[in-house]
Amino acid sequence: MALLKILQYPDKRLHTVAKPIETVTDDIRRLAADMAETMYAAPGVGLAATQVDRHIRMIVIDVSEDKNHLLTLINPVILAKDGEVVHEEGCLSVPGIYEPVTRAEHIKVRALNLDGLTYQFEAEGLLAICVQHEIDHLDGKVFVEYLSRLKQDRIRTKLVKQQRETM
Ligand code: NI
Repeated sequence: MALLKILQYPDKRLHTVAKPIETVTDDIRRLAADMAETMYAAPGVGLAATQVDRHIRMIVIDVSEDKNHLLTLINPVILAKDGEVVHEEGCLSVPGIYEPVTRAEHIKVRALNLDGLTYQFEAEGLLAICVQHEIDHLDGKVFVEYLSRLKQDRIRTKLVKQQRETM
């Protein structure tokens, strides 16, 4: 297993729309394991392949307290959503920034697992928020894009400065 480099906003590659995975191969399973390791090490509760510069539709999520409930979602689709919830979100690609975002409160999701089998589940709370946040990544969208133009500009300036200082 290996730790992967996480792209940092405002890297343009974060705006790539990821392609569906046609077959779940050993390479895909290896990438999923590396993504999970990278997410746990960060530490974070979710990571999309987009964030490690692999533009295929796969995300890993673990919102459990004991970090023992890893979910891998391949080609995830939101089948239904309802309600509304506002939660302060953060992102491993946008370090140090936490801002409120409005999302659906309940969702029904369909995805493939690492055996290539379809599964379906309903989610609410942090899991529902996280799934929506990560699917956005696969569509090339970073959570700061829900904020005002002014806030986005401030965040971009701050991160560019941070990245310059740590280079
Ligand atoms: Ni994120």
